[in-house]
Amino acid sequence: MAIAFSPIEACADTQPFAECHGVNLSQPLDEETVGCIRSGLLRHGLLLFRGQQAMTPQDEVAFNRAFGWHDDTQREFIFGFGAPTTEHTVSGGAQIPALPEVSVLGNVFLDDYHGIRNTQLASGLGFTYSGWHADGLHDMFDGCPELTTMFNPPGYQSGAGGETYFTSGTRALERMDPEIRRELEHCTVAYIRCPNDEAPDEARRVTPGPAYMTDEGTRRLGWAVNALDPAAGMLDFDLLPEHADGGGRHRPIRTHPQTGEAALYVTPSRAIQLLDVETGAVRHDIEETVDLLSRALLPSALPDTRYEHTWRQGDFVAWLNTTVLHSATDPTDTVGDRLLHRVRLSAPKTRWKDGVYLSE
Ligand SMILES: [Fe+2]
Repeated sequence: MAIAFSPIEACADTQPFAECHGVNLSQPLDEETVGCIRSGLLRHGLLLFRGQQAMTPQDEVAFNRAFGWHDDTQREFIFGFGAPTTEHTVSGGAQIPALPEVSVLGNVFLDDYHGIRNTQLASGLGFTYSGWHADGLHDMFDGCPELTTMFNPPGYQSGAGGETYFTSGTRALERMDPEIRRELEHCTVAYIRCPNDEAPDEARRVTPGPAYMTDEGTRRLGWAVNALDPAAGMLDFDLLPEHADGGGRHRPIRTHPQTGEAALYVTPSRAIQLLDVETGAVRHDIEETVDLLSRALLPSALPDTRYEHTWRQGDFVAWLNTTVLHSATDPTDTVGDRLLHRVRLSAPKTRWKDGVYLSE
């Protein structure tokens, strides 16, 4: 069967995402197939491959490496990224020992699962506690992953909940109030510094925990006392401008070097300030930044606009982190077993300079 793309019905009117048919990802990908999938990813931002019943973790890694968007020298995987440490290797999940590129997330007990032993998985972050983001954007200066993939292996199926939300950053720009867009064109976002970027140490862990989000995951209210219990309220924590010292910085509107399309590229939960792109002066303080980013993203985050992916066994989803934003849903809504594999490899740091992704 020839490779074909069709709109994902649930969001065909609001998102460019597509289902990709005619590919068996458990087989080696030839050059023609890789080329076809690459152009599909660049055109649609997100591709869904259903029925991948025989896919192995090795196949997932092979898919991620097929496009050449990764750093070939990456040896350590922290939260799935290449950071110079072997600490913090677990983030609400586990990594497959022989293939640490593959993180295993969910809520099940695993023993003898691809070498993972005696491990109870617990879902942490969700829509309320982290909201919309791009992987790596708010954690890293450089090497932000171009691609993330997730796979629901056969044998695990949630009864309800556990969806993943997606929205196109490209479409988000079209929906955005033009005045907000014009303002964001002049800005760089300064993010909270984080232990898993260039200098991973505890002193860099400046936030007291997950963000507590409202307005459809676009607006930070504060910091959650307990990421599994909204009733527990928020921590008394003052976020200050200096918490961005040494943190990631990126333009909130980014033009993709291959497609030439601009996209909204932000993680509102971790943003501290908006700085002038030319002078570095503060254009918007902490409060204004929260408000502006929420208003920029909200029209694209609404239930009727976003894509809510309900996971089925054998689903493999691949998306471009640089043009698509995503969010987990709240773990408290999940009924039954949930198990997903995630791969996201750092892009070569030579492709990034000062938060700007260079063309090939
Ligand atoms: Fe993510």
